[in-house]
Amino acid sequence: MIYKSASDIDFSVSDLPAVAGPRRVLMTAPTHFQVEYVINPHMAGHIGSVDTAVAHDQWATLKSTYDGIGLETHVLQGAEGLPDMVFCANQTLPVPPASGLPPRVILSRMQSRHRKPEVPAFQQFFGSQGYDVHTLQEGKGSFEGMGDAIWHPGRLLLWGGFGFRTDPEVYIRLSGALELRIVRLLLDDPDFYHLDTCFSVLDEETVLIYPGAFGEDGRGMIRKLFPRVLEAPEDESRKLFACNAHCPDQKHVIIQQGCQRTVALLLEAGFEPIEVDTSEFLKAGGSVFCMKQMFW
Ligand code: ARG
Repeated sequence: MIYKSASDIDFSVSDLPAVAGPRRVLMTAPTHFQVEYVINPHMAGHIGSVDTAVAHDQWATLKSTYDGIGLETHVLQGAEGLPDMVFCANQTLPVPPASGLPPRVILSRMQSRHRKPEVPAFQQFFGSQGYDVHTLQEGKGSFEGMGDAIWHPGRLLLWGGFGFRTDPEVYIRLSGALELRIVRLLLDDPDFYHLDTCFSVLDEETVLIYPGAFGEDGRGMIRKLFPRVLEAPEDESRKLFACNAHCPDQKHVIIQQGCQRTVALLLEAGFEPIEVDTSEFLKAGGSVFCMKQMFW
């Protein structure tokens, strides 16, 4: 059940099992955040340039934004030597709970050696929350959690990006193990190296994308499954991570400040944008969506 082009799609989203959205938000404290190596184009030229005090304030504002809209935030401590651990969308994929079973989480296999040691802290956290923790089966292939694998709001359907960080083969294994449909999207612009940099799901019918990050097949599937596709402009997408916005409740959209045209699109579509400054985190190639993990 892997879908690769619009002509493969033989279902409607409204026929898929309904899933309640997660209400808890995990964040990693930015104590050890810095740019210490370059593993995506946004990091180039920024080694050592993060102002830790400013980063901490920006992170704290983001956390209080989640608290302010009534979500339950949990904080993991960062670790020395793991400067990207603050991007906690990447180390796991929490799976919507099936009735009567404990919730599950899939651990990532990070592509970069710099980031592999981040995963055990998340394994421990989800274990402590009563999750069944799964590792990917044997075999090669990296997988970067919700950086690349994003749930369709309200339905049991996974969107899976590949091309830079996640190996497409992983989706075959995930689809089999979790018995779900996965729509596979090829990413081919290195500035948009994770799916969450160019694809932000807002509600069951609406997605915000930067269309230039996808090929024809990807755009075709997105248009087939979302009746409403908002297109963020290139400059706001590439420089300000407009499509790394996060809509945690199908209503509020937390977005990097300065994305004026994207904010206008969101307002016009009936969403409530909340602008925050994540400029220190943009230096490492991440913004709002990357800085949290939602779980049930
Ligand atoms: N420096 C990090 C990396 O390249 C940034 C990760 C951003 N996270 C995300 N979900 N896109 O891995």
